[in-house]
Amino acid sequence: MADTTATATPEATTTEDGIRRRDFLDIAAVSAAGIGGLAVVYPLVSQMAPSKDVLAASTTEVDVSGIEPGQAIKAVFRKQPLFVKRLTAAEIEAANATSTGSLRDPESLADRTKEGNEDILVTMGVCTHLGCVPLGAAEGEVKGEYGGYFCPCHGSHYDTAGRIRKGPAPTNLEVPEYEFTSDTVIQVG
Ligand code: FES
Repeated sequence: MADTTATATPEATTTEDGIRRRDFLDIAAVSAAGIGGLAVVYPLVSQMAPSKDVLAASTTEVDVSGIEPGQAIKAVFRKQPLFVKRLTAAEIEAANATSTGSLRDPESLADRTKEGNEDILVTMGVCTHLGCVPLGAAEGEVKGEYGGYFCPCHGSHYDTAGRIRKGPAPTNLEVPEYEFTSDTVIQVG
């Protein structure tokens, strides 16, 4: 006897909501494609970002032994200018004579240098206003009204400790992470 029972195909199956099962299959296929797309894109993006290892490796070493009191040298740290200055006794005195409470960004010279090496001031050479490179590190450059650095872009004056004293810059010149790896060499970063 012939089997007259109809076999339901996915196309023909209809749920109580009236949605064909095939629709579910289509939706599932699209969702899987979307996830697959993400899975491909994410590793590409994550590969483009520098890893912690790469960042950690980008340090700068500076030999400070040749820097005379009152002189500064310009170096590069992570593609940005870095100033390393040896302060004179008068510059240290001027920095310490300023009450930190009167400062826009209160920090003492001791806060911004290493104990025993308060004469070595290490700062980024990047104005904290809009990022210009301040003057004052090279011989003969204008040092501003407070004897440190002067940003000619909009007139920010930094003192001998690299602290903002006048002008639009909101904060002191940044002191990056650094340490003395010997009596004469610093490693920045
Ligand atoms: S960028 Fe230095 S004062 Fe504006």
